[in-house]
Amino acid sequence: MSAHESETGGDRRAREPLRIRIDECGPMLLPGPVEVELPDGRVVRSDRVVVALCMCRRSRILPWCDTSHRRHRIPPGKA
Ligand code: FES
Repeated sequence: MSAHESETGGDRRAREPLRIRIDECGPMLLPGPVEVELPDGRVVRSDRVVVALCMCRRSRILPWCDTSHRRHRIPPGKA
């Protein structure tokens, strides 16, 4: 195992499955720290205990959620 794998949770994944929670109409929540490789090859990192990845693509700080999804929620019964 490389040092990189260790820093990004390689050890954690070897022991137990990584549980990811998908918030309805919101972000994907996963235990941190997390590194995300972007389409342009850059790698960004969050050291938060729980990391929120934007699923709605409205965030101004992609790939992280900035709660912009809250302003665009579809009221219950309108979907
Ligand atoms: S999921 Fe929160 S801003 Fe996109």
